[in-house]
Amino acid sequence: MPAPVRVLSLAGATVQVFAEVPLACRAVADRIAQVTRSALDTRGRAILGLATGSTPIPVYARLIELHRAGELSFANVTTYNLDEYYPISPLDSNSYRSFMYKHLFGQIDLPPNRAHLLDGSIPEAFAAEQAAAYDRWIAADGGLDLQLLGLGRNGHIGFNEPSDLPVAEALALGTRLTHLDPITRADAAKDFGGEDKVIPRALTLGVAPILAARTILIAAFGPNKADAVARSLTGPTTARVPGSLLQTVPGKVTWYLDEASAKGL
Ligand code: GLP
Repeated sequence: MPAPVRVLSLAGATVQVFAEVPLACRAVADRIAQVTRSALDTRGRAILGLATGSTPIPVYARLIELHRAGELSFANVTTYNLDEYYPISPLDSNSYRSFMYKHLFGQIDLPPNRAHLLDGSIPEAFAAEQAAAYDRWIAADGGLDLQLLGLGRNGHIGFNEPSDLPVAEALALGTRLTHLDPITRADAAKDFGGEDKVIPRALTLGVAPILAARTILIAAFGPNKADAVARSLTGPTTARVPGSLLQTVPGKVTWYLDEASAKGL
């Protein structure tokens, strides 16, 4: 596993700062492999919470490498993805289902019926029911062994966007249909060919099921993330910065940063 250049202990989390992003991504992938193997050894299965965005792409590339080398099998793994645009067809190239198939699922031995994503094509009348069912399925599977997260430039985790909710209410948020924050829409503009074309709503795993994962890995790289990283790790716990809600689960969060994203620490 690649070694960080610095390790900090902040807000109940371990913060690993790497000299280069590819090394950090490799460390994230190796940790996912480690947690997966250990869950497979002890319980015969592993339940992983996965994320999309540009950050995890090299992480998934490394997991595919490990799989091809015969060092990691997903045959007894179950996955739950963090979020999905709404409404969107699963076949749309911007859907997170397409993303996951392209960057991971199509290249590993994960059984297709154990790769769960929130369905962006469900009728709106059933969206709340689907979201509640998703939380129940995760619980019925014994909870997430690991949740992989990226961090939005506005501090979001999944599509849990900044809000004025009291902390207790933010912590209790379940999986649901939600609206994208203007900063999130601006960041997604490149994928949709313009900010006005970004799908304005999304389904997201809630804050509560994210925080319930036994291990949480969060990766954020580059200067654009420095402010959100600093506010998540050195600011107050507030729903204005969803990443700061990770401070409420000390001992199970590891941050993977590069020098640029760690600049404000
Ligand atoms: C997206 C996703 C998040 C992701 C974040 C950062 O909108 N919904 O789950 O972590 O924004 O994305 P990136 O890794 O591309 O910076």
